[in-house]
Amino acid sequence: MDMKSATQKITKYSWTGLFLILFMLYIVRNTHPDLSDRQSRPIKFQRDTVVYDVSPKEKKRKGSTNSGVTMQRRGNLLYPMVNVTNFPRIDDLDEEECQAMMDDVIVAPASSMPLIALASFPRSGNTWTRSLLQVATGYSTGSVHWESERNRQRVQEWFLAGTEDYMRQTGVCVKTHEFSIDHIPIFNNGAIILIRNPYYSVVSDYFRFFGGLKNISRDQLVESMESRNDHWTKVLLPQFQRWKLTNINWINNCKRLLVVFFEDLERDPVRELTRMVTFLGQPLLPRRIMCAIYNFRPMEAHRSHMNFDPYTPEMHAILDSYIQEVNITLLQKGGNPLPTYEKYALT
Ligand SMILES: *[C@@H]1O[C@H](CO)[C@@H](O)[C@H](O)[C@H]1NC(C)=O
Ligand SMILES: *[C@@H]1O[C@H](CO)[C@@H](O)[C@H](O)[C@H]1NC(C)=O
Ligand SMILES: *[C@@H]1O[C@H](CO)[C@@H](O)[C@H](O)[C@H]1NC(C)=O
Repeated sequence: MDMKSATQKITKYSWTGLFLILFMLYIVRNTHPDLSDRQSRPIKFQRDTVVYDVSPKEKKRKGSTNSGVTMQRRGNLLYPMVNVTNFPRIDDLDEEECQAMMDDVIVAPASSMPLIALASFPRSGNTWTRSLLQVATGYSTGSVHWESERNRQRVQEWFLAGTEDYMRQTGVCVKTHEFSIDHIPIFNNGAIILIRNPYYSVVSDYFRFFGGLKNISRDQLVESMESRNDHWTKVLLPQFQRWKLTNINWINNCKRLLVVFFEDLERDPVRELTRMVTFLGQPLLPRRIMCAIYNFRPMEAHRSHMNFDPYTPEMHAILDSYIQEVNITLLQKGGNPLPTYEKYALT
């Protein structure tokens, strides 16, 4: 056998081998239900708009309507253009159908999801939004705080992708309260940032931390706010700064960002949830979106508004200047401004 024919033989066999391997992969992929049916979709970037690659399989998914959805891009900020006029009405849904959509939420196969953060200052609706997105997309959500959260009952029962390392990319998005400049680029497919009126988030987080974690009674906490004693006022400055930095750092450093105002989400959950599903690159399934809203109302524990003003005039002045800074940062980026916030009565 001369050199030439040996090479020809090897080439011939390796082509056959390669073909067989590809064929087997194709068979495995198309017979494994989780892989063939519900894989995350690649996101195609264009210069000014983002066009979603709707594969023929997903077009066939019952009730999916997002072919041709486009996004406005303003620098790093994206504005999905959604039209929810033809969505079913809440009254047209039935409980059984909506329950089924909670029961079929799955953890996606490893490495099948893009890395997209759901970033926020604590108590800005992150948990509520995760629940909405899980029902709307059919996929579980993860968390960068998974190591400290994975033993919680709620995580083990409902936020299943949150029980494992978020870098496995099994969640449709990843909760984070982190905001350091090094943390933001980990999410190479961008982030949704939830921004809420800090006058309310800070109060709510005070109850979460000292009531929930430190087991101080609610009456005692309300009393500390009413008298504006040290226990309350000493947490304010760091919290205000954290609210400001969380928002400014994500707005300035995330390459692909969807800004969602918590107040908009409360007022018009259909529209805001549809924008988020679009941004995540998932198929729009109007009945799932409506069932998500049917199943999950804003969390009562997050409201905790006081019927008095717990902030001193000095604290108002500082917080207002931070709010203004975030507002200006958004405007400089070409984004929509913050909504007008309620600020308790100025005393
Ligand atoms: C939204 O869709 C409805 C029904 O298809 C259409 O009549 C309406 O003009 C659309 N609205 C906008 C703002 O495009
Ligand atoms: C929390 O405090 C209450 C009342 O002070 C007490 O009865 C309860 O055992 C405490 N719970 C924990 C988990 O420490
Ligand atoms: C942000 O700016 C807009 C106008 O530029 C204003 O209408 C809105 O009230 C501001 N929001 C806050 C929270 O200051």
